[in-house]
This record gives sequence, C-alpha cells and structure tokens, in this order.
Amino acid sequence: MSDQQLPMVGGMPGDDPTSRGGERLGAASQFVETERPHSAAQAHFDAEPILEVRDLRMYFPVRSAGIIRRTVGNVQAVDGVSFQVPKGGSLGLVGESGCGKSTTGRLITRLYEPTGGSIEFDGRDISKTSSRGLKPLRREIQMIFQDPYTSLNPRHTVGAIVGAPLLIHGILPKDKVLPRVQELLEIVGLNPEHYNRYPHEFSGGQRQRIGIARALTLQPKLLVADEPVSALDVSIQAQVINLLQEVQREFDIAFLFIAHDLAVVRHFCPEVAVMYLGKIVEIADRDSLYDRPNHPYTQALLSAVPDVRQAAVGGRRERIRLEGDVPSPINPPSGCRFRTRCSLAQEICARVEPPLLQIGKRHKVACHFAGELGHHPERPVTASLLGVDDTGTPDPGASPSIEVGNDPGYADTWFDLQRKTMAGA
Ligand SMILES: Nc1ncnc2c1ncn2[C@@H]1O[C@H](COP(=O)(O)OP(=O)(O)O)[C@@H](O)[C@H]1O
Ligand code: SF4
Ligand SMILES: [Mg+2]
Repeated sequence: MSDQQLPMVGGMPGDDPTSRGGERLGAASQFVETERPHSAAQAHFDAEPILEVRDLRMYFPVRSAGIIRRTVGNVQAVDGVSFQVPKGGSLGLVGESGCGKSTTGRLITRLYEPTGGSIEFDGRDISKTSSRGLKPLRREIQMIFQDPYTSLNPRHTVGAIVGAPLLIHGILPKDKVLPRVQELLEIVGLNPEHYNRYPHEFSGGQRQRIGIARALTLQPKLLVADEPVSALDVSIQAQVINLLQEVQREFDIAFLFIAHDLAVVRHFCPEVAVMYLGKIVEIADRDSLYDRPNHPYTQALLSAVPDVRQAAVGGRRERIRLEGDVPSPINPPSGCRFRTRCSLAQEICARVEPPLLQIGKRHKVACHFAGELGHHPERPVTASLLGVDDTGTPDPGASPSIEVGNDPGYADTWFDLQRKTMAGA
C-alpha cells in the first residue's frame, strides 16, 4: 500500500506528536510508582492452552569455509523446550542474552521451521505448515519486536504501517482502512490524527506503541512480545507494559512475553519459564518462582532484582554473582549445561542431564540439587529417580522410579523434595 492512499489530515508538521499519547501516559504513570504497583495480571491456569510446545528444537547448521561447505556442527539454539500458554493468559520467558528466547519466539511465529518437536496452536500442529498455510496463521499469531525503530519501515507513514495488514489480508476495503487505523492509534494512546507522520517523528515509547497497534490490527489470538521494552527508558518501560496489560485484558489475547530480566515480567506474567542455553531450567507460577526459586540460575537472576517488598521490611537479598558468559551452544557442556557457572556443581552434573522435574503443583526444576536458597540438599535428589548413584554412574540394581518426561504443562502428582516421595493435590 502506498502512503498516498491515506489522505493527509490534521497534524501540522510542528505539532508535538506526543500530545494524545502524553495525556494517556500521564494517566498511566500512577501505576509506575514502585510503592503502588498495579495489580498483577490474573492467572488463567484453568483455561485451555492456546499454544502447546513440545520438545521444540532448533539447530542452526555451522558450515565450513571453502567451496564445498560442509556442515561441521550445529548451534543448538533451542534444545527440547516444552511449555503451554493458556487462552488469554501469559507466559514469561526469561534468560540471559543468547539462551534461545528469540529463536523460540521465531519458531512459534513460524519465521523458522523447527528442527524437531511440535507446536500446537489452537488445536492444530503448525510446526510443519507450508508457507501457503502460514498466511492465515499470520493473522492469529503476531509479534512485537524489541527495537521499534528498526521494525518499522522509516519510509512509510504510521497509517500505512498499521493499515498494511488489513489490505494484505483483504480484511477491509480501502475506504474503511483509515478509520480502523485511527481507532487502533487511539487504543494504543497515540493521537489518531498523526497517522500521516513517519516513525522518526515519534519517541521510542511511541514507536513501540505503533508496533503494538500494528500487531493488534488483525486481532490476533497470540502475541509473541520479544523484549518489547528492553530498548526503552525505565520510566517508559512501565507505561508500555501497562498498555500491553490493558490490551490483553480488553482483547483477551494470550502473550508469550520474552525478557532478559525477571523484574520486567513479574506483574505481567502469572507463569514464568527460565531458559539457559537452549533449555528451560525452571518453570513455575509467579509465587513459586519469585518466592521459592529452586534452581541456582533462577536464584542468581533473582538476586539481581531489586525487591520492593523486601526493602520495605528491611530485608536484603544477597547478590549472587554469575561468573563468566553463557557457553557456546555449538558445543554445550555435558550433563547440566549450567555446570560451568554453578557453585553447587558435582560429578553427577557433568555426567547426567538433570530432568525438568515437577516439584510442586505448578513448579518444575531441572537441577540434581534442587532446593531453596541455602537449603540445597547434599545428595542429588534425582539419582534414585534416574537409576544412577550419587556420582551419576548407572546403578544396575536400581530401577528408575518415575518416568521423567518432557511434557508441557503440569501433572496432578509431583516429587516432594522434602519427603522424597510422590505427592499430589
Ligand atoms: N539464524 C541463526 N543462525 C545461527 N545461529 C543463530 C541464529 N539465530 C540465533 N543464533 C544463535 O542461537 C543462540 C540463541 O540466540 P537467540 O535465540 O537470539 O537468543 P536470545 O534471544 O535469548 O538472546 C545464540 O547463540 C545465537 O548466536
Ligand atoms: S544440576 Fe548441578 S550444575 Fe546444574 S544447576 Fe544443579 S547443581 Fe548446578
Ligand atoms: Mg533475543
């Protein structure tokens, strides 16, 4: 669609494009105060999943130099990830840079074809859908990107950017597009008269609002938001998160909210998964994950999050330093991938991969020494379950006592770490 299709009205070149958005931002800013955080998003645990990802894998081939470019290895960007997102709910996906979050998001939006595993969206397996079949899917799953500037075409007006999907998918006749675009701009807190302006005329936060308007155009059922606020000032971050939360409530959209920081997803996501080097290491409902993290990596990430409630009662959380960088996913460490940075690592950690073990009603953790901070067990809790001894050597006399699978969601029974037996609701 050319920009000319949208008539130029309103918005003098010198206008402050923040006017309408500014009012709304001002109203929303009361939620930003840390003393009065806005209500946390409601859980949708009983809702049917809109998205179910099972054992998802994405290996990017690494090729040799030269004329005959042989595959000499693989970047194991995502390696056996399983989770669910309930209808109208939101799951946070958190981890350091390079752990496979964006690749997971791109697999779900089918920008990549997975190497393995399945992606079930609204009851259909979309992991092998052909490019023709993907067109209707693009209406239902939309993505919001980290950098609102590079994801918006600088040569197109906001009206053209937000309205394009309506024309591409033949949803509205040309003469109905502009009113819809204006409605969308209003929804995201921008002045509807500014549809004929260009992205560079807006601030970073407003550009992200344009990105959100574009993502809403086709009324998707699922939004994959890949670090939607990471490039924004801290004060603007909360406003954009508030907007996303309003949008979610209003339109009942499910979210996969990707962030590198646990603080960002805390209020937005009733359930959070922590990723490390292509795998989920802990996944739980908000209370379990933030109040009782059991994986040393989650504990380290959380120790870096300023905790308003703890500060209020005079409590302090000791900062756990994570040494070194995330290892290369081309040749990840054997056993537990976190072992090269883990202060608790023992022999079994190098030999046996820890299963993602359910340890509570809605809590799974992948660590041989899972436990709350300061209460990690001395002996591996997983050994008898896996039929190995404490060093990870297979024990011929032992019989693995539970099936440790890689299913999405939670079972009705789980392994009680204190009692070392199975428990249930
Ligand atoms: N298209 C690609 N080709 C090869 N390697 C890639 C590609 N995309 C991502 N990777 C690698 O996969 C790993 C995970 O990347 P990514 O999913 O972007 O992580 P995150 O979003 O968590 O920072 C990184 O090591 C990255 O270099
Ligand atoms: S399995 Fe071992 S290395 Fe991995 S997180 Fe647990 S203690 Fe650390
Ligand atoms: Mg990323």
